Amino acid sequence: MTTTRGSAEHHTPSGTARLLPGAPVAEAVLAETAAAATGLRSRGITPSLATILVGDDDASAGYISIKQRQAAELGFDSPHVHLPATATQAELHQAIARFNTDPAVHGLLVQYPVPGHLDYDAALQTIDPDKDVDGMHPLNMGRLAVGLPGPLPCTPAGIEALLAYYEIPVAGREVVILGRGATLGRPLAMLLAQKRPTANAAVTVVHTGVPDWARYTRRADILVAAAGVPGIVRPEHVKPGAVVIGAGVRYDGRRLLPDVDEACAEVAGAITPRVGGVGPTTVAMLFHNAVRAAERTLSMIR
Ligand SMILES: NC(=O)c1ccc[n+]([C@@H]2O[C@H](COP(=O)([O-])OP(=O)(O)OC[C@H]3O[C@@H](n4cnc5c(N)ncnc54)[C@H](OP(=O)(O)O)[C@@H]3O)[C@@H](O)[C@H]2O)c1
Repeated sequence: MTTTRGSAEHHTPSGTARLLPGAPVAEAVLAETAAAATGLRSRGITPSLATILVGDDDASAGYISIKQRQAAELGFDSPHVHLPATATQAELHQAIARFNTDPAVHGLLVQYPVPGHLDYDAALQTIDPDKDVDGMHPLNMGRLAVGLPGPLPCTPAGIEALLAYYEIPVAGREVVILGRGATLGRPLAMLLAQKRPTANAAVTVVHTGVPDWARYTRRADILVAAAGVPGIVRPEHVKPGAVVIGAGVRYDGRRLLPDVDEACAEVAGAITPRVGGVGPTTVAMLFHNAVRAAERTLSMIR
């Protein structure tokens, strides 16, 4: 996507680190998406992002409402299917198949999590890869690995957009990612190692197989916490002046427990806030992926 730029003059209350909130980045991505949607509508195509919710989890229903509100603001259609908590795997696959074959639907997501008797990953694999706005279908992971165009995984793409927005140089610098999970660490490593001006980094990925991982994080120019272990990144793991991106979180009920200890702000040069860092950029990327999918149906970009 086009690099959007800005600068943050905020500072953390206790330290010297520059704060890197995600909201302005998300707004810039969404403004670009809204402009693309307007262009598509002028050519008779209304971009659409379809959602499927299974069951009655309040938090999941809330996330769907947020996406539908955002869709309305951007001038997207947002068809929705709500399946009961008792839905079978076959019924979930049928709902996906209907959206897959509907030419008016450009993007499609199944709200995570699904009830325990259902296999989310199996359902994900039945989504048309070109409509996979989460960018998590194995084919899209493969496209990312070999550098083919396609929907990018939203959180990694949001992190790249955040670094670009705040004009943090990435090319040629040392990025260390703590965590090699399939949704975050692994695709982010592939993305930031690509040969592009906003990537092109020397990327190292550490995990439980590297017990002495702090040896690597302490030399990182950009450290991304992607472990899902509350407070795992402490000030002594951070090189003074480094950029720290806190993406990993765990929830204790509704309470958000980030990977990055707040005291890291006293050592870092720039840091995402405890709340409102990477999250907003992830949601914006869903719509970015959907509008690109709609454009591809016009053969505008490939
Ligand atoms: N902010 C957002 O919008 C957003 C979006 C997606 C995900 N997330 C968050 O990002 C985090 C990662 O997601 P994921 O799906 O990639 O998770 P995951 O599959 O559970 O991966 C976690 C990774 O962290 C590593 N790890 C865990 N404990 C460790 C330790 N003590 N020392 C070193 N490495 C450790 C694991 O190492 P091993 O591989 O060796 O087990 C694994 O590679 C989660 O907290 C998730 O909630 C946030």
